[in-house]
Amino acid sequence: MNDLIAAARDAQDRAHVPYSEYRVGAALETADGAVFTGCNLENANYSNSLHAEEVAVAEAVKNGHREFSRLAVSSDRRDGVTPCGMCRQTLAEFCDDDDLAVICDEGGDDVTEYTLGELLPNTISEETLE
Ligand code: THU
Ligand code: ZN
Repeated sequence: MNDLIAAARDAQDRAHVPYSEYRVGAALETADGAVFTGCNLENANYSNSLHAEEVAVAEAVKNGHREFSRLAVSSDRRDGVTPCGMCRQTLAEFCDDDDLAVICDEGGDDVTEYTLGELLPNTISEETLE
C-alpha cells in the first residue's frame, strides 16, 4: 500500500468526531521526506472544528517545514475524499499548483491522484497581494 495512505489511515483512527462520525486522516510529506499527520477534531460549537489537512499543515509548519511534495487524505468510508475548499486554500499558502500531489484513498490499494492546481485553479496567493 502507498506509504503515505497508510500514515493517513493511522491518523484517522485518532479523529475526534462525535458529531459527524466521519473520520478523516491526512499525511503530509515534506520536500526532505519527513511526514506529518493530522486528523479531524470536532467541537460542540461546530464551526470550531479542525480539518485533518489543516492539523497536518500546522504540525509540519510548527516543526519548521514549509515545502511539501505529497499529501494523502483518507476517510474511514474509503470514499476518495478530497480536501475541502478551505483546506485547498490552506495548502496553497505553502505549495505551488503543480508541486503538490494530492493522493485520495479509494479503499484497498486504490487511490485517485490530483495536483493541487487541478483542485484549486487560479487561487489567491501572496503574489496576488504584491
Ligand atoms: N473534513 C476534514 O477533516 N477534511 C476535509 O477537507 C473535509 C472535511 C472533516 C470535517 C468534519 O469533521 C467532517 O470531515 C465532516 O465534514
Ligand atoms: Zn477541509
